[in-house]
Amino acid sequence: MSQDLAIPTVDLDDLRADVPRRDAARAAIREGFGAYGLVYVRGHGIAPESLDAFYDAFTRFTAQPEAAKRPFARPDIWYQRGWTPPNTEQAVAGGGQPDFKECYFAAAMPLDPECKTEHPEICADNVWPDDPRFAEVYTAMGRALHGVGQELLRGAALALGLAEDTFTSRIDGAPHVTRALRYIPLTPEQVEHGVLWGEEHTDFNLLTLLPGGRFIDPSGQRCPPPDPDSGLYLRTRATAAHPAGRKVRGAAPPGCLVAQVGQQWEILTGGTFQATPHVITAPKSPGYARLSSAHFVHLHPHQVLTPLGPFRTAETVRAYSPPVLAGTYDLKTLVDIALAPASALHSLGYRHYDRLAEQRSLPR
Ligand SMILES: [Fe+2]
Repeated sequence: MSQDLAIPTVDLDDLRADVPRRDAARAAIREGFGAYGLVYVRGHGIAPESLDAFYDAFTRFTAQPEAAKRPFARPDIWYQRGWTPPNTEQAVAGGGQPDFKECYFAAAMPLDPECKTEHPEICADNVWPDDPRFAEVYTAMGRALHGVGQELLRGAALALGLAEDTFTSRIDGAPHVTRALRYIPLTPEQVEHGVLWGEEHTDFNLLTLLPGGRFIDPSGQRCPPPDPDSGLYLRTRATAAHPAGRKVRGAAPPGCLVAQVGQQWEILTGGTFQATPHVITAPKSPGYARLSSAHFVHLHPHQVLTPLGPFRTAETVRAYSPPVLAGTYDLKTLVDIALAPASALHSLGYRHYDRLAEQRSLPR
């Protein structure tokens, strides 16, 4: 499936090389993010052992009884740090079915202190389990993936004929977050009812790096995909021949990461790059789990989400209006996916009407 669609692979070494390798890599970025919303990435420098250590630490955490994990579940900070229990997050297109997964969120990169005041939930301090290795391997993985993201953002800017720092200058201090996920084994009844692990959605951030997941068999051992249909699927851009897009298995070549376009990048490029809808389908056999992870590169919360100069036409401006600050967009999306309470939307900007009411109530 993915083979016949020829999703490009970008080697980061080629991006650093001379012409013509460099130009070929930029063309692959332009084609991959433009036509498919994703590229496979080689030459990223992340050793398989680092990823194993990351998943091992996460598995030690998830293997604990729920009572031990519950203190790390933080609805007060919209689950943006620590443990997200199963059946919490809900895709916008999900029709009310929460995702059957548990996750851990942490920030590996330093945050703009001002944004911590403005967005205390999205920019909350990390919460770490007692496991001494957890924070170390988690932070190392997040930083490595972030570095890959920065290289792709620079390469993509040049591929689009923009200044090299067009995108990277907009991300310093942003609430980038690294997430580990465990899709929960299904019961025979859930398999029969076609319960999904994660409903189809597009990521709301700028760029997502996916270093690759693992299936775990009912005995707890890593295993190959239990059936050919389970795992990550992507939906390609609509074309005249395929107006609903095409479902493509997101199986990167061995050793490659997947990098995919999020909504914020689609907006900045006026749709030249398109956010990729993706879905996680569960195996048709009960009892299997899947570990997965993602690093979400975000725009700085003060950035305005509107097509950048070269991408501004009456059509693109209309398509992505009204403009909104990236931090506000994050907040609104977290409400949409049921991680933040709807009341968060009522506390944007000015909220001092009660001051006048109080003054009016006083004797003059
Ligand atoms: Fe996603």
